[in-house]
Amino acid sequence: GDLFGKQRKNARGLNLSDPAVLQQLQEDLAAMAERTWQAAPIVAGQQMPGERQPIYSPHDQQHLAGELVCSSPSDIEQALRHASNAFEDWRLCPVEIRAGYLNKAADLLEQQRTELLALCSREGGRTLRDALAEVREAVDLCRYYAACAVEQFARPRRLPGPTGEENLLYQLGRGVFVCISPWNFPMAIFIGQIAAALVAGNTVIAKPALQTSLTAMACLRLLHRAGVPEQVLQFLPGDGAEIGRQLLSDKRVAGVAFTGSSATAQLINRQLANRNAAIASLIAETGGQNVMIADSSAHQEQLVADALHSAFNSAGQRCSALRVLFLPVETADSIIARLIGAMRLLRLGSPLDMATDIGPIIDRRALNALHRHVEILKREAKLLYQLPLPDGLANGCFFPPTLAEIPALSLLEHEVFGPILHIVRYQANELAKVVEAINTTGYGLTLGIHSRIDANMRYIRQHARVGNIYINRNMIGAVVGVQPFGGMGLSGTGPKAGGPNYLQRFANEQTLTTNL
Ligand code: SER
Repeated sequence: GDLFGKQRKNARGLNLSDPAVLQQLQEDLAAMAERTWQAAPIVAGQQMPGERQPIYSPHDQQHLAGELVCSSPSDIEQALRHASNAFEDWRLCPVEIRAGYLNKAADLLEQQRTELLALCSREGGRTLRDALAEVREAVDLCRYYAACAVEQFARPRRLPGPTGEENLLYQLGRGVFVCISPWNFPMAIFIGQIAAALVAGNTVIAKPALQTSLTAMACLRLLHRAGVPEQVLQFLPGDGAEIGRQLLSDKRVAGVAFTGSSATAQLINRQLANRNAAIASLIAETGGQNVMIADSSAHQEQLVADALHSAFNSAGQRCSALRVLFLPVETADSIIARLIGAMRLLRLGSPLDMATDIGPIIDRRALNALHRHVEILKREAKLLYQLPLPDGLANGCFFPPTLAEIPALSLLEHEVFGPILHIVRYQANELAKVVEAINTTGYGLTLGIHSRIDANMRYIRQHARVGNIYINRNMIGAVVGVQPFGGMGLSGTGPKAGGPNYLQRFANEQTLTTNL
């Protein structure tokens, strides 16, 4: 296999620096400006009826993106019944066939790219560049997990034994997997969880984030069109708490793949534990309190560019995003001045406009939480800079990039999910304390280091308990098969998505010993 080799290629996406490609894309998107989409429960391939509710765009809350039908208790029960009945055949279906469906899905994703971009920007507020990168990531995840499955699951592993005895180790699906995905990567994480669970031999019930049900529905249709049997993949959009209560108390659920907040992961864990049933496998990828540490040797221009990109890209709505930048007291003032200078150049606006750097916040609730956090910062810390909101965005959920200074990392109790960057100053001889403060948060997702001093880099790398460390670059946008993504502690259970060990947790192992 070539999982680790040079032959494995990630998707190329579109080259937007080619004016002809860009113009064609803009024309295609303009033609879809008034399109709307639908989402509804899909059980055994049937679209279930129900009351429709409107879904509006976060950047313009008067612009309809589509309509959603939420799942009823009977939809949930039927989804469980079909997923559970379909398991036996699916687990015995040859891995190469399952992998073939994922490879086909990857091709369809590329073919349907323009519609997915339009939908994901309109519903999820993702800028076109973010959405493009996300389609590529979804394509990569499908192909990568297909390759992993064929390499790792297609043939049993032969293990040693005494003469006259054959020992084989098989990997088999576990049963019904519930995949619960977030709104911030409505294509890549939605498809990535499902692809991994399916190719490992599980049947799947997908529960997408309420805010991005339309995008999830388009992706689900695409997986069915790629050949995934209708009985094997069910779709239950709607309110997470309601659906979760019924779904996760059911004995037929063998595993859950969840990406979202740490608090919800803990709730899911309790719900699964309360069943009088086999212990379910829980794969959780949760929040972070992500730090970048710059020492006095950091290259200031590069640091500023990387900190800005890490904190404000996707309006800070990535679990990998930078939240707290540690600056040495000697250089802090000059770096802060440069940061503010660079922030002034950022453009907020419609996610469909190519010139936009920062699109909207996902909804009013999330927006209000950011406003409340800034009120606390004004009272208890120091607000350093906030970009003025440009005119014309009043119908949308926009929040300006914000810079604040806080006395210590421990003051941030919760993950702040938006474009707010906090600065903490530290003394050069207190690097160990900085690392200890990071570990004390309990989170451990991403960490950035800007330094030219080997001893500092080594110390931080050895002692920080985080999943993804980036030195002298930005700290977001992990690439499939290159930077497998996922954290430790409050940030998640592992295994890392887009990495060679991801599929194992979706499988049961079986040995077969034969006396020859
Ligand atoms: N995988 C994404 C990133 O690395 C998650 O937020 O940015």
